Amino acid sequence: MQTIRARLTAWYSTALTLTLAAFAAVLYFARRSTSYQDLDQRIRSEAELTAGILVETYRARGVLVQTDTARRLVLVPEVAALLEVVPDYLIVTAPDDSLLFASADARALTFQDVEQLRQLVATARGGPSAGVVRLGASGPRLHYAVRYVGEIGGPSVAILAGADVQSAELGPQQLLDTFALILPIGLLAALLVGSWIARGALAPVDQIITEVREITDGRSLHRRLAEPMVKDELGRLAATLNQMMTRLERSFSALRRFTADASHELKTPLTVLRAGVERAITAPHLPPETLATLEETLQEINRMTELVDALLTLARADEGIAPLHREPIDLRALLEDTRETGELLAEQAGVHVEVTTPPEPVILEVDGQRFRQLVLNLLTNAVKYTPRGGSVHVQLGENDGRVTLTVADTGIGIALGDLPHIFDRFWRADSARTRTGERPGAGLGLAICKWIAEAHGGQIEVASRAGRGTMFTVTLPRTGAPTQQTG
Ligand SMILES: Nc1ncnc2c1ncn2[C@@H]1O[C@H](COP(=O)(O)OP(=O)(O)OP(=O)(O)O)[C@@H](O)[C@H]1O
Ligand SMILES: [Mg+2]
Repeated sequence: MQTIRARLTAWYSTALTLTLAAFAAVLYFARRSTSYQDLDQRIRSEAELTAGILVETYRARGVLVQTDTARRLVLVPEVAALLEVVPDYLIVTAPDDSLLFASADARALTFQDVEQLRQLVATARGGPSAGVVRLGASGPRLHYAVRYVGEIGGPSVAILAGADVQSAELGPQQLLDTFALILPIGLLAALLVGSWIARGALAPVDQIITEVREITDGRSLHRRLAEPMVKDELGRLAATLNQMMTRLERSFSALRRFTADASHELKTPLTVLRAGVERAITAPHLPPETLATLEETLQEINRMTELVDALLTLARADEGIAPLHREPIDLRALLEDTRETGELLAEQAGVHVEVTTPPEPVILEVDGQRFRQLVLNLLTNAVKYTPRGGSVHVQLGENDGRVTLTVADTGIGIALGDLPHIFDRFWRADSARTRTGERPGAGLGLAICKWIAEAHGGQIEVASRAGRGTMFTVTLPRTGAPTQQTG
């Protein structure tokens, strides 16, 4: 039951099934009650009819009974013939309770059963009565009515009319069977219709989910959900989400603008500071402690300038105002430029740096300055995170029509759990030693690399094993890639 749709369908079907079942039960019991009433009405009529026939015959002929060949008292044949048409169980007994007539159904009963009925009449003598009786231990259950005929003079003849309750059960039972057939079909229909209705009702929710997901990928906060004309719950939800996104967009851009403004404002004082310290450091006859302090200050100023530059770059990139100046450049030449810096860094760190480029030109439309920054960031990282005696290999190549630049080192590597974070801003594996340690840094270098690669329509990937080394691969498309700017 992961979806509202499944739950709605289940509720709907259960409700419908319960309603149908309750309806069936009510209908069944109502039908059964009517059926029993009809049955009782029928046997009373039968008894009345028989009484009428007996009285009329007696009036017309003055005699009702005669002796048969076995010297038993029986009804005269004309009356017996008339009574044969009465359905169900019908017996007529003489005042001494001997049997005068039994209908076809009654004659089909066993002797004991007929005796039981006769006894019933005998014990009920004295007034009309009715009731229910079971014949024998497992015989049929009968509703019966007894009518005494006093209108023919002398002690009364008794009539018992009875009917099997099974005949009354037949109708309700058929009704139940019909429902047993209809219920599963109804349930299936309810499931299908319920699921269809739920899907229709929830389709806009799915659409909102898809749209919100597209918008919140971080680059489309300016987009808004389509608001339906009807201001129902979903319409209001879309409107509310839109308002929320407007506020989010506003605070995001305020945040970006603040970072950009702050970095920009810091640049000038930093330049002034650096110029001042540089001038002071060149003054003659400085005591050694002052010189050391000034050098340290200059180093900190340089680090801060780098940080402010990086922040400004990222803030501008986020705001979409860091345009790329793309022009066709032979990337081999660009790598040669950086080789010198790399070798200088490597010499200080005691690391061997090797740069391999293909013999033929690799001309690509890139922003030269940004691309140089990308290569330098990766190269600096490789040297920084490779202990003395290790080696760094920068390689330019082509693969499947795409230009690849790999920077591989034999350094300390990156733990598997850290890999997903290394392109995050301000993320460092060893964050405790941000400023002072042997490997200082702010944790912005790779974030900038990622932005530069993606702004050129390419991507950057990393493969690393702790203690073994790291390899960064930048892949750039050969043609097209009109991505001017990403935010
Ligand atoms: N070649 C590498 N070998 C091992 N770890 C690396 C390598 N490159 C990056 N890392 C890890 O990724 C983190 C982030 O790198 P990133 O370049 O963004 O920041 P940084 O070098 O620490 O600081 P910054 O570049 O801003 O001066 C580093 O702190 C380091 O833990
Ligand atoms: Mg770095």
